[in-house]
Amino acid sequence: MIHFNQATVADRQLEYVREAFETHHVSGDGPFCRAAERILETGVGAKRALLTTSCTHALEMSALLLDLRPGDEVIVPAFTFVSTINAFALRGATPVFCDVRQDTLNLDEALLESKITARTRAIVPVHYAGVACEMNAILPLAESRNIAVVEDNAHGLFGSYHGRPLGSFGALATQSFHETKNFSCGEGGALLVNDERFIERAEILREKGTNRSRFFRGQVDKYTWVDLGSSWVLSDVLGAVLRAQLEARESIQRRREAVWRRYAAGLGDWARARGVGLPSVPPHCEQSFHMFYLVLADLAERTAFIEHLGKAGMKAVFHYQPLHLSPMGRELGTAREGDCPVTERIADCLVRLPFYADLTESEQDRIIETACAFG
Ligand SMILES: Cc1ncc(COP(=O)(O)O)c(C=O)c1O
Repeated sequence: MIHFNQATVADRQLEYVREAFETHHVSGDGPFCRAAERILETGVGAKRALLTTSCTHALEMSALLLDLRPGDEVIVPAFTFVSTINAFALRGATPVFCDVRQDTLNLDEALLESKITARTRAIVPVHYAGVACEMNAILPLAESRNIAVVEDNAHGLFGSYHGRPLGSFGALATQSFHETKNFSCGEGGALLVNDERFIERAEILREKGTNRSRFFRGQVDKYTWVDLGSSWVLSDVLGAVLRAQLEARESIQRRREAVWRRYAAGLGDWARARGVGLPSVPPHCEQSFHMFYLVLADLAERTAFIEHLGKAGMKAVFHYQPLHLSPMGRELGTAREGDCPVTERIADCLVRLPFYADLTESEQDRIIETACAFG
């Protein structure tokens, strides 16, 4: 069976885990976490990176940092993972779902202005598949209305837009290190703080609402409860894994790029002849090689395609279902069926092919051959 995903084991990750135990620092915020944070700060250019227990938790921290309250509105793509909006809905904010572009499947910037009201407090663009949203349109619009931008960069680490790293555009940005991501410690995430006004409070929220970080730096003589918060610090055992993964970033990204390009080369003619959609990467976007997807004609064809690959021992999977049509989306949001037509179509037609750094060329060739035989 060729799996859909398989976590990469970086050269030094087991050695680092052993070291974390041998040096007796396995709780949060130890030397491995700090080293991983420094790689993120340098790689993305963030003022501060704080590792978290998940991207979902980094998004929840963002909602707290922005002091979101009931009645505030947050604009998100309808085609995204539930956490992109759930984190804000937890604070009582109202989801405002925006459709995505046909080509990149990213928040459609041309529709954004029509979604903004006097109550809009945040826009959360998602760089789907690690291909950038049109930040040159989104940022000025947000800035002119004093609306915060939180980049959900779960897919996009080390991608860029007009040469600028993804994760460096929003006042805040969030990363995921879940098993399915390019770099993984099983479950994990990061909050990237680009607006330094948020740094100190972000440290407090992540440490159960205490000023413990200031205490450890010797800035206060005891620590106490000063704000809301929760337990969002990543263990140094996972930090050890993540440091090794991030240190191996060039090799991991090079291998993922090779997989992506082999799919594109091997499936291009078949897809074009058959009217199957391929990922679209605008020339000003350097993608992160997070996934390879196909867009089939409709739900029946997609189901048949997944079965066709499954029979040949290959796991292909679909992706997000329209959030505005989910039970919670209907209850909390205002969008109805038909309001986000691209999302509604793509949710039925998109399929993701097996994709990981260790996928071999012969495995890939079998997948390509099987896909091209789909009649
Ligand atoms: C766009 C997006 N945002 C957020 C998340 C949540 O990430 P995590 O599992 O680290 O909480 C995911 C998960 O796949 C995602 O795809």
